[in-house]
Amino acid sequence: MVMQKLYTDPLNKATLWLEHWTNVIATSKYNPFYYHGALPQFYLWVLFLSGLLLFAYYIPTIDNAYASDKLINAWTSVDYITQTIPFGAVFRGIHRYAGDAMVLTILLHMARVWFTDRYRQYRWVQWVSGVVLLLAVLFIGQTGYYLVWDERSLLLTRMTVSAFEVLPIIGQPLKEWFINGKEITNLTLSNYLFIHIGLSFTLLFGLWVHYVRMARPVITPPPVVNYILVAIILGVVAMFPIQSGVMAQLTQTPTTFEIDWFYLWPYWLMTKMSLQSFWLVMIGVVALLTAVPWFVRSKPVEAAEVVLTKCTGCSLCDKDCPYEAIEMVPAPAGSRFKLLATVKSYRCSGCGLCVGACAFDAIDLPNLLDSDVSNQIKAAAQS
Ligand code: HEM
Ligand code: SF4
Ligand code: SF4
Repeated sequence: MVMQKLYTDPLNKATLWLEHWTNVIATSKYNPFYYHGALPQFYLWVLFLSGLLLFAYYIPTIDNAYASDKLINAWTSVDYITQTIPFGAVFRGIHRYAGDAMVLTILLHMARVWFTDRYRQYRWVQWVSGVVLLLAVLFIGQTGYYLVWDERSLLLTRMTVSAFEVLPIIGQPLKEWFINGKEITNLTLSNYLFIHIGLSFTLLFGLWVHYVRMARPVITPPPVVNYILVAIILGVVAMFPIQSGVMAQLTQTPTTFEIDWFYLWPYWLMTKMSLQSFWLVMIGVVALLTAVPWFVRSKPVEAAEVVLTKCTGCSLCDKDCPYEAIEMVPAPAGSRFKLLATVKSYRCSGCGLCVGACAFDAIDLPNLLDSDVSNQIKAAAQS
């Protein structure tokens, strides 16, 4: 706990200070800090919708897809979307910048839960699933950059292949999985498309794991906040319209690329160190990030306890518990009531909401009187 105080207390205070002043300007109803998890979720819906339009016109080949005089391949299809389809460039821009916004809002969300100490103990599932989601989002975004098949796509593909090749045992199979064979061919792009779309949909499963322990996760910002989020993206699209790069040629060797710092920083890292060191840094950072909930030791939470003789099975505690820590089970034979509340101690945060919800004094927190909890809840409601 001391460690927690040392390195997050000032950040916690700064976060709360920022939230307070955002409340003053935007009111608590529209304060984006209160929708920190819902913001990346909203951008995910925007990505699905804008991606659907791009998918309708995208052709995943390097060579000519049809026996036509004019070359029709991945690069020309993306160029067609940008130059010819009405608002195609706008949709491409929305897709690109909503992806960036998703990473940015995920980072804000991470910082918020970390600085406000809402990531440890019974919340470790959310944290660890969050790290997996973040890695998946980064990889999906990178595959988006391979799909457009410009010089940058070719360079990134070659850099990824080189990075896989240095890995012992799994390197070669990973490379062949990645480019769908031993060499870059048309099948490489169909694989990229499959990974890009397939992995995007598996994010939904990851999010289910992320939310499953929360009774009422806030996953939708109010409409006004949604409009503002879309307006921000449209503003960025207008200021920085998407340009097509030069079409990739397998016979050429591009050496420089324009970087998107949200997604492509690992490639920048690769240029700064040996590939072996790159993997060590990446694996180390991911391992450290995953282990964050266990860095800080504190007294174990004292879970709520049900007084079996008083419980009427009314389920109010179950409805109020934010962490799905209460389970209603059939009452033992001979009981006057049908159900009985039980507490899953490994999920309980000791927040006391169930104690406040119970009208029968049938649930307690050890070392905290029912009247103390009621007084604390009243005080919090008045502050
Ligand atoms: C695809 C990306 C993500 C989305 C859409 C997302 C969404 C959400 C949402 C909607 C909540 C509920 C917030 C609330 O009700 O107040 C939540 C909670 C949480 N998320 Fe995420 N999240 C994502 C990634 C992450 C990442 C990368 C981490 C950390 C590594 C993380 C850690 C957590 C934690 C610890 C909670 C519990 C917070 C609490 O109980 O107050 N999430 N997330
Ligand atoms: S609110 Fe009280 S009486 Fe009702 S189920 Fe929960 S513990 Fe039992
Ligand atoms: S104290 Fe009660 S409401 Fe809070 S997490 Fe534990 S069981 Fe749920």
